[in-house]
Amino acid sequence: MSFILSSIDTVDTISAADFTKNYLNPRRPLVIKGLTKTWPARDKWTPEYLKQVVGDKVVPLYDNSKADPAKPINSATTHMPFTDYIDLIKSQPTELRIFFFNIFKQAPELLNDIVMPKDLMGGFLESMPAMFFGGSNSVTFLHYDIDLPHIFHTHFGGRKHVILFENKWKRRLYCIPNATYALEDYDVLNPDTKKFPALEGVQGQEVFLEHGDTLFMPTGYWHWMKYLDGSYSLSLRAWDASLSRKAASLYNLAVKGGIDSVLKMTLKSGYAKFREELAIKWANRELKAGKPY
Ligand SMILES: [Fe+2]
Repeated sequence: MSFILSSIDTVDTISAADFTKNYLNPRRPLVIKGLTKTWPARDKWTPEYLKQVVGDKVVPLYDNSKADPAKPINSATTHMPFTDYIDLIKSQPTELRIFFFNIFKQAPELLNDIVMPKDLMGGFLESMPAMFFGGSNSVTFLHYDIDLPHIFHTHFGGRKHVILFENKWKRRLYCIPNATYALEDYDVLNPDTKKFPALEGVQGQEVFLEHGDTLFMPTGYWHWMKYLDGSYSLSLRAWDASLSRKAASLYNLAVKGGIDSVLKMTLKSGYAKFREELAIKWANRELKAGKPY
């Protein structure tokens, strides 16, 4: 392991004051095991129940290769009725994932089964809860979210391995300029540090989420996730209170995304190569300088 991983603080419950002081303000991740104790979803959202309420709606499925709103090319590997997909992940390992599924549009009654943790912080984007499903062995590649929300990520129905890196490490992680993912989809559990020397010594945090656990992932954190069992997660997203972060979110969405696609169209493969070279140059420069501090 070339990364230096520590465990994420875990509590059963936390007061708003402690959460704000020790996690929200300093941007530290936290696992809250008991946040869902008041949620009907904790007992109700079995695979059978979800099948019953969502039904045969055909859903797009993605494999372990990159698929993210941050990427201009975001094409599904295949499609399948939701019920068949749930049967698949409960019966065998599969790379196939459902990604950013607005399940509440399909089954609005599910919204009654969750409780927004408004007692911990404000700014929730209530219209945007999304769910993620994965088979045992499926992986969400390393990236951070382009619109920089704080995320409460609650897991259901199995275990999920999560590795996080603070955004300050992005150059050491070979972040592609103007993008929210790395140069190559390297193996986060066993990265090739001969090929990517700047990964050596990068510090991150790790957790194995279990049914009902909620991970607080502060704005800008890089995340890599592996479903150990066929299981699913809910992401509740909240804007940061500070104006500068809001501005940064908008900048990421409007300006960076725009520049990125314009340059990409104009320069095509030359641009891709240029960005890859820049990612390597930046990674090596930071490594040499012993950054980030
Ligand atoms: Fe994400």
